[in-house]
Amino acid sequence: MAEAHPPKTVTVTYEGKTFEMPVLSGTCGPDVVDISQFPKQCGLFTYDPGFVATASCESGITFIDGDEGILLYRGYSIDELAQHSDFMEVAYLLLNGELPSVQQKQEFVHNITIHTLLHDQMRTFFQGFRRDAHPMAIMVGVVGALSAFYHDSLDIHDPKQRELASYRMIAKMPTMAAMAYKYSIGQPFVYPRNNLDYSTNFLNMMFSTPCEDYVVNPIFAKAMDLIFILHADHEQNASTSTVRLAGSSQANPFACIAAGVAALWGPAHGGANEAVLNMLRDIGHKRNIPDAIKRAKNKNDPYRLMGFGHRVYKNYDPRARIMAQACHDVLNVLGKQGDHLLEIAMELEEIALQDPYFIERKLYPNVDFYSGIIFQALGIPTSMFTVIFALARTAGWVAHWKEMIADPMQKIGRPRQLYKGPEKRDYVPIHHRAQKHNKHVASF
Ligand code: SDX
Repeated sequence: MAEAHPPKTVTVTYEGKTFEMPVLSGTCGPDVVDISQFPKQCGLFTYDPGFVATASCESGITFIDGDEGILLYRGYSIDELAQHSDFMEVAYLLLNGELPSVQQKQEFVHNITIHTLLHDQMRTFFQGFRRDAHPMAIMVGVVGALSAFYHDSLDIHDPKQRELASYRMIAKMPTMAAMAYKYSIGQPFVYPRNNLDYSTNFLNMMFSTPCEDYVVNPIFAKAMDLIFILHADHEQNASTSTVRLAGSSQANPFACIAAGVAALWGPAHGGANEAVLNMLRDIGHKRNIPDAIKRAKNKNDPYRLMGFGHRVYKNYDPRARIMAQACHDVLNVLGKQGDHLLEIAMELEEIALQDPYFIERKLYPNVDFYSGIIFQALGIPTSMFTVIFALARTAGWVAHWKEMIADPMQKIGRPRQLYKGPEKRDYVPIHHRAQKHNKHVASF
């Protein structure tokens, strides 16, 4: 009988007293120290701006080994899923934890397909936006507005309503994304078609018009489906953590996903794909790369190499490697092997990865570095890049929302703080206040 190992603990000594905290182990990855009783034991909070060293939850959905550049969805490597699977199967896997049988996949695809239509009154919702509104601004609004139209899938305590909301979210994102694009170019909305697969349907809604027959290039549809797989989930990233935090207040599922869309928009996160294309266009020529790298290394310059670096990956992002290959494949098919921006991106990567600044900080290309180039090759406008990221990440957001709701340990997320403001002071009537500049006035 193997001897039971004593529970692992961390000991903290503070003000002459010693406290022990349990160490918890996962299936793989680093152990964690459970500090939930820390305040009761020793009256201290922990301090971790940006949650660099903090595990916010238990999860069984996605695992990242940042040092080795490994990404697993429910234990399956992103490389194998990219090679053998499709986005509908990956969405099923993320939501349910196992790869589907033939029948389970058929049922799942059917349940998604029958929910792709948007309540027709939402067409007028789009009319309220300026034509030049950023599509992500429209998506933040329209996704949240779903809760104003689908009242039969708002009750998070009803498993059937949770399931219906999950199908509706995944099914309607392509429809809303394509409508945001069509609205921005003044073309009529294109309805989803139930005889088309998920990715083909999206491209048809994006690029077909009522004026003539349109056939989606199957190579483009396959590339789009691969992009959806690569962007589907990524453990507790900023937008997924936002969805979880919103969900912890028991907000309805559409409001939670809308919060995730908003968080993803930032150029430090999902907005980076759009920022990479703009950066490559600004660089414009290989001869300008040294100056761009010099600026990116300058502490006093906010300029960053967009698409480079990652909070978790301290090795090549496996998605970037797959995306780079897909870039070459699609551009070769299009006869655009010498794509100008791809040439600049490849040269930029080669120079940066030999530079001590990037090597010392373990800064490698991330998922966003090459994605914009392939989007552009597929005819997707730059302003739609992050919308497509949000479309794909909805599968992961919904999976995490579902996991969080079902977690018996789940409670409202409510971090604490290290207070650095003024101590208690008495109110001073306005005519008795010194006119000198108050040191506590916060500047923008
Ligand atoms: C995504 O979390 C996820 O999983 C996200 C994501 C997902 O699938 O959900 O993978 C998607 O968001 C990918 C990241 C997209 N963002 C970008 O490409 C924007 C450019 N990257 C940086 O802004 C940055 O690398 C972050 C935001 C991605 C990560 O920032 P961290 O982890 O907070 O790291 P840091 O800012 O503390 O940087 C550490 C050092 C700093 O230098 P020192 O102060 O140590 O001297 O590296 C430097 C930074 O200045 N650095 C960069 C850099 N990224 C970090 N220097 C130049 N160019 C960069 N891109």
